[in-house]
Amino acid sequence: MEIALSARNARAVPASERSDRAIAAAYNRAGDSYLTYADGDPGQLYAFDSQYAHGDRVIWETLFDKLCAIRATRQRSIRILDLGCGPGTWLRRVVTRARAIGFDKVIARGFDIASDQVRRAQELSADLAAQPGVDITFEVGDIFEPLAEADASVDLTLCLCGVLNHLPAADLAPVFAEIARVTAGYFVTSARTVGSTPSVYIGALAQARRFHQDNRLNRLEVEFQNGRHISLPSHLFSAAELYALVAPYMAIEDIRGLDLFHGRFAGDPRWNPQCEGSARFVRQLELLEKTYCRDPEFVDHATHLLLVGKRPGTTPVAKTTCDGPVRNQPATPTQPERR
Ligand SMILES: C[S@@+](CC[C@H](N)C(=O)[O-])C[C@H]1O[C@@H](n2cnc3c(N)ncnc32)[C@H](O)[C@@H]1O
Repeated sequence: MEIALSARNARAVPASERSDRAIAAAYNRAGDSYLTYADGDPGQLYAFDSQYAHGDRVIWETLFDKLCAIRATRQRSIRILDLGCGPGTWLRRVVTRARAIGFDKVIARGFDIASDQVRRAQELSADLAAQPGVDITFEVGDIFEPLAEADASVDLTLCLCGVLNHLPAADLAPVFAEIARVTAGYFVTSARTVGSTPSVYIGALAQARRFHQDNRLNRLEVEFQNGRHISLPSHLFSAAELYALVAPYMAIEDIRGLDLFHGRFAGDPRWNPQCEGSARFVRQLELLEKTYCRDPEFVDHATHLLLVGKRPGTTPVAKTTCDGPVRNQPATPTQPERR
């Protein structure tokens, strides 16, 4: 029997009890259309013009802030790890910017169980990998396997945009223990909330003829317009649940909701192409996002949760721009209310 070790000294999770093959098959078959749906044009790394543009911009601001904070320590090299990297867009963004802000050496590894997504990530990162000072690799790998990285060797660990939603929540403790073991700096993750708008994960909702999210079985059934059917593990998180899962292993610097308002207020061009928000309306949405993204009544209705963890006991570094330190902003994590 194939056994996936969840973490050192942790309970082994038999791969046969999980749905890895169904997940890998779904993302493999989605191919390039997943990339377009999730990231837009793969050549425009910082355009952030997908359906999830607002949330992606906030994730990017967070990652850039962490890159700058690490750079402000005068560290010249950086190691980055991306768990469930999909087509690798986030890792390419971070590596490209890390070189641009002056890291001499950038070592980055992304892995995913969907081999076709990994192959796409390898193709798209070929130019980046050829740059001096860049060591970027993408591999097929399972998040439940022990990580190859040494203790406290990774400066920035990522697990973004719904990877966690596909994993059995009851088996996540050893995964977070393993992430905490390797992470010397920051862990940044995002996952769909219990109150999020619907998603079929691998493509646009409009491609689905029918879908059903079963929150008791944590499973999503989708029938696509072309008659194809998929059944995927899909567990939706409350902020309190995600906080409680990570908190035993890492200090939580922030947990917030991403995209409470933008997605819901976005006009649908299929319905009314003229219905674009005015600049003032978009500013009002930004203000609402800022006001309510950590509000316990609202956070679980965001599209995603964004959690920033860090190694316990690390000294807070000055919040910086890459031109130099600007102000010291102590992290003020508030444990979300249990509902
Ligand atoms: C919604 S996609 C997100 C991909 C990528 N992080 C991004 O932001 O575009 C979820 C990804 O998680 C991967 N995944 C699911 N279970 C996994 C596991 N056990 N180990 C590694 N990757 C996994 C899937 O193959 C898929 O590529």
